[in-house]
Amino acid sequence: MDNRRIILDCDPGHDDAVAILLAGNTPGIELLGITVESGNQTLEKTGRNALNLVQYFGLDIPVCKGVPYPIIKDVEVCSAIHGESGLDGFDFPPLTIDYDKRGAVEYIIETIRSSKEKITMVTTGPMTNLALALRVAPSIVENIEEVVLMGGSFTNGNVSPAAEFNILTDPEAAYIVFGSGCKLTMMGLDVTRKVLVLPEIVERMEKVGNKASDLFCQLMKVFNQNQKRVFGWEGGPLHDPVTIAYLIDPSVVTLQHVHTEIDISHGPSYGRTNCDMPDYLKRETNSFVAISVDVQKYWDIIEAGLRRY
Ligand code: BDR
Ligand code: CA
Repeated sequence: MDNRRIILDCDPGHDDAVAILLAGNTPGIELLGITVESGNQTLEKTGRNALNLVQYFGLDIPVCKGVPYPIIKDVEVCSAIHGESGLDGFDFPPLTIDYDKRGAVEYIIETIRSSKEKITMVTTGPMTNLALALRVAPSIVENIEEVVLMGGSFTNGNVSPAAEFNILTDPEAAYIVFGSGCKLTMMGLDVTRKVLVLPEIVERMEKVGNKASDLFCQLMKVFNQNQKRVFGWEGGPLHDPVTIAYLIDPSVVTLQHVHTEIDISHGPSYGRTNCDMPDYLKRETNSFVAISVDVQKYWDIIEAGLRRY
């Protein structure tokens, strides 16, 4: 595996929490910093959750607060799945750390510009911060190795027939990023809905018996109850860590190189990641879209990540 210097842009979030856990302590992945935005909850709450996670895992990295709103839309949160706090199910010790003084957009630009090696941007929430950074400083594209996102779907969505939550929360941001010329790798619902935290997965992770598995299992129990109530799943899909699992072992997913365009038409398909899998339109490819996932390998990666704490 290549050594990756990454910035994780997120909206924690139960599955974002596991992505942080995995990115924070994996050889070959250097987590430089975390940027947050509104998404699963308001910015105040996702930011607080990120600080709590960073403190809990003892990560010595900046947490930078992003913009509080999507580019055009109003804030729409996902409390049905992630609860009122955005991370219901775990009691963190009192918070003693604070945000970095730089805002997320400033931090992303500064870090990418000043890095000798290219930076990988991982996004597990709406893409607002990255889109604004690309608009303010378009030349950062040259020093971005890859953008790996959890978002979208080449089939159906999870919040509308067409759209997935992260993309529909800020479609204009996704439109900017998909049109930026960055190498894009998209982990959509097509694969993330295959990695379900079934009760046997929780039991397996419980056996790890450390602070990371403790957090994982407590969070996942609440996540699963909410997923069952809303979607009827026995185990909720652990979407966001697929991004980090791919960086750890790219063979965990199979990718197809296609043209993807984000629908910003404000019609019924608003927020759809229109992936031209059959290549009908003969447009230039701009994205690697995950089409399958090795579920066994994924849980092995998650378990190994928990064990490193
Ligand atoms: C995405 O939406 C959020 O609720 C999750 O954290 C994930 O990033 C899945 O659609
Ligand atoms: Ca998320």
